[in-house]
Amino acid sequence: MAEELIVTENTTKVKKYEELIPQIKALVEGEPDLIANLSNIMSALKWTFGWLWIGIYFVKGDELVLGPFQGPIACTRIQLGRGVSGSAWNKKEVIIVPNVDEFPDHIICNSASKSEIVLPIMNINSDVSAILDADSDQLNDFDEVDKKYLSEIIAIIKTL
Ligand code: SME
Repeated sequence: MAEELIVTENTTKVKKYEELIPQIKALVEGEPDLIANLSNIMSALKWTFGWLWIGIYFVKGDELVLGPFQGPIACTRIQLGRGVSGSAWNKKEVIIVPNVDEFPDHIICNSASKSEIVLPIMNINSDVSAILDADSDQLNDFDEVDKKYLSEIIAIIKTL
C-alpha cells in the first residue's frame, strides 16, 4: 500500500480523478476490511478535492446511519426520503444540488455546506445498501464529471 497519494494540484478535476482512481484501487487492493477501505477512500477524496465533507451512510432498516467520513461532525441518522441523501436512496438515483438552499427538505448538518452530490450504492439485488454524500462550501461545485468519476469509485467500493 502506498503511504501517500500523488495528485497534481493545479489541474482540472478530470485529471485529478484520472490520477486518483488508480491509486485508490492500489490502496484497497488486498485489504478485505470494508470500514478500513472506505475510511481511506473518504480521506483520499477529501484531501484531493478539498470538499467540506465526504462520507458514507449505510442503510440500516428505514434509516441511513453515518459511516466513514472526512470533515466536520455530521447528522448520525437520516430517515428514508428525508434530505438529499434520503431522496437519493428513495429514488435510487444520483442527485446533484447546485445550491442546497434551493433543495426542498435539505438537511443542514453543517451551515457551511452550499452544494452537494449524493450517489446511491446498490447491492446485487439492486437495493440501496449505502449512499456516498459529498458537500462543498462553494455553490455549484458538483457536475456530471463528479457523477461519472464518483460512480467509478462506487464500482470499486462494490468489489470490497
Ligand atoms: N445534507 C444532507 C445530509 C447529510 S450531510 O450533508 C453530511 C442531506 O440533506 O441529506
